[in-house]
Amino acid sequence: MKNKPVRMLSLTHGAIFLLLAVWVLTILFYRKQWLESRNEQIPVFMAAPVKPDQVKSSLPTHQHPSKEAVELDFLKNTINWPSTPPLPLNFSWKDSSDPRHSTFTVLPKRGGGQWHVGDELEVVIKMYNFHGKPKKYGGDFLLARLHSPSLQAGVAGKVVDHLNGSYSALFPLLWEGNVQVQVILVHSSEAVTVLQQLNRMQPYRIYFRSLFRSGSLTETTTCNVYINATQEQLCNYTDLHTGEQWFCYKPKKLSCDARVTHAMGGFRKNIKRQEEMLFQRGINMKVSIPPSNHPNISVLPRVEDQTRGIGDIVRTEPSGYYYGGAWRPLDGTKVHQFNSSTAVSQCLRGKVLHLFGDSTIRQWFEYLIASFPDLKNFDLHNSKQAGPFVALDYPNNILVTYRCHGPPLHFANVPVTQLRYIANELDHIDGGPNTVVVIGVWAHFGSLPVDVYIRRLQNIRKAVMRLLSRAPRTLVVIRTANPKALTVDVALTNSDWYSIQRDKLLRAVFKGLNVHLVDAWEMVLAHHLPHDLHPKPPIIKNMIDFLQSYICPLPTDQTRVNH
Ligand SMILES: *[C@@H]1O[C@H](CO)[C@@H](O)[C@H](O)[C@H]1NC(C)=O
Ligand SMILES: *[C@@H]1O[C@H](CO)[C@@H](O)[C@H](O)[C@H]1NC(C)=O
Ligand SMILES: *[C@@H]1O[C@H](CO)[C@@H](O)[C@H](O)[C@H]1NC(C)=O
Ligand SMILES: *[C@@H]1O[C@H](CO)[C@@H](O)[C@H](O)[C@H]1NC(C)=O
Ligand SMILES: *[C@@H]1O[C@H](CO)[C@@H](O)[C@H](O)[C@H]1NC(C)=O
Ligand SMILES: *[C@@H]1O[C@H](CO)[C@@H](O)[C@H](O)[C@H]1NC(C)=O
Repeated sequence: MKNKPVRMLSLTHGAIFLLLAVWVLTILFYRKQWLESRNEQIPVFMAAPVKPDQVKSSLPTHQHPSKEAVELDFLKNTINWPSTPPLPLNFSWKDSSDPRHSTFTVLPKRGGGQWHVGDELEVVIKMYNFHGKPKKYGGDFLLARLHSPSLQAGVAGKVVDHLNGSYSALFPLLWEGNVQVQVILVHSSEAVTVLQQLNRMQPYRIYFRSLFRSGSLTETTTCNVYINATQEQLCNYTDLHTGEQWFCYKPKKLSCDARVTHAMGGFRKNIKRQEEMLFQRGINMKVSIPPSNHPNISVLPRVEDQTRGIGDIVRTEPSGYYYGGAWRPLDGTKVHQFNSSTAVSQCLRGKVLHLFGDSTIRQWFEYLIASFPDLKNFDLHNSKQAGPFVALDYPNNILVTYRCHGPPLHFANVPVTQLRYIANELDHIDGGPNTVVVIGVWAHFGSLPVDVYIRRLQNIRKAVMRLLSRAPRTLVVIRTANPKALTVDVALTNSDWYSIQRDKLLRAVFKGLNVHLVDAWEMVLAHHLPHDLHPKPPIIKNMIDFLQSYICPLPTDQTRVNH
């Protein structure tokens, strides 16, 4: 009898607990449904083909997905592109965006009056097709810049897609004088549909070859990140340290160990005629959109006594701008000019610079040895394309090296002995206050599923974190992607549309790390020279000045740079 109230109490507790539990579960259930329905609204276009390792990871499992796998999903969501309708069967390229029928209009200053430094300029872009009909949906790939040719000044704009055939481009006004707006249609939304589809359906359209040799016997087979064949048909060159995958068809007579070279094999172009017409240079690819009027935008000096706070300026946040042909970062970094060999020797004295990456990083090596005769290339008799290269300045004890990244490298005839993953190379660097590591990896990943690129960056990041943890004063600099000149074949494998997404991923993966970005994207976009995979020397000079400003800041800059 005595324990009855206790039982009553526990029953009441139990009931309350049950009610609470049901309530919590209900909320969780609806929240999950809500989240799922939200996710459904976000179309994921860059869906990778089903690869064996992905099938495994998507099966129900009791293990928690790895941190990298969770990040992979998150990163893929950050590069969603606005929905572009599929092309109908009877599609004609004349139904797609026509830059010459399209126009942009500079909006008057909000609140009226004249333009001043510190204001934000907005232009509205309206897209039309080749029949002069307005476009009703978004997804066109536009780039914009604001510039003053006589001042050699320029800044990249920010393009906002209103998803109804109209777009805005926003520019901060950073200098005085007359300024002009340039808006470029890189690809119509219809062309974007094709590029999306190609990466979904034909991600392995660039293929590779390896030569196998033993004695006088040679064979060549096809290689790629993924090959749809049985394990018995393949040589598996997956890197045990990083897990980076690579496969070749097994040679008939030779063993997998007999692989001696790696090279790009070619590109399988499999696209309809009308689709190909969406990539016509000078007609609908990389063409300027004309202004509707010819505005004379004259920017007056900053007005100091305005009520507007400094924070109001920036809906756009460019990383820097050109003035007098020199790049001025907006993050507070002071860029100094290193024009003479003496200035460079002084800055780099006692330093080791390791450059890793594709040909856009090799350019830095080439620029350094061409511009500064004291830094002498030591001929290792390696391929001009792949290196590796070494340059020395003996009196000043300066060492500069270049090494290309691993597969899917597009270069020709790289000896397998020199085919290394950057992450593994970084693990062999001591690091320290006299070591500078420069990394540039982007141009060879455009046609592959983004997963491949993300995993590569995650591996490099892990190695960078190990390096910075054992030698925190190592300077790590990362060069981003940049827009380039496009032909139809370049567009289908390596378009700026692929690059801009990889560029976003690169920035996201290295965000928060103690590494410095050289914003090649904006440095090429804002410059008056044409877009180029390999930007011309005036742009490279700005990049190298930027790099050296990090290596040897003036005493007044030191507080900021020495974290
Ligand atoms: C394509 O077919 C649709 C429906 O059959 C038609 O409405 C449209 O006008 C056609 N377009 C062209 C370019 O022939
Ligand atoms: C498109 O959307 C923008 C932003 O919502 C709006 O200002 C504009 O009027 C729209 N244009 C058309 C043609 O509907
Ligand atoms: C792999 O090839 C087989 C037969 O050749 C085919 O049925 C299958 O769909 C292919 N799988 C993928 C992922 O391409
Ligand atoms: C390739 O080798 C790696 C490492 O040994 C292994 O994990 C993977 O399952 C292999 N893949 C195939 C398709 O054989
Ligand atoms: C633009 O306006 C400025 C002064 O407002 C004037 O000096 C300049 O000549 C004008 N330029 C053109 C092309 O009209
Ligand atoms: C470096 O050269 C540029 C252009 O050649 C020049 O404008 C600049 O003043 C020079 N800077 C120094 C520090 O010599």
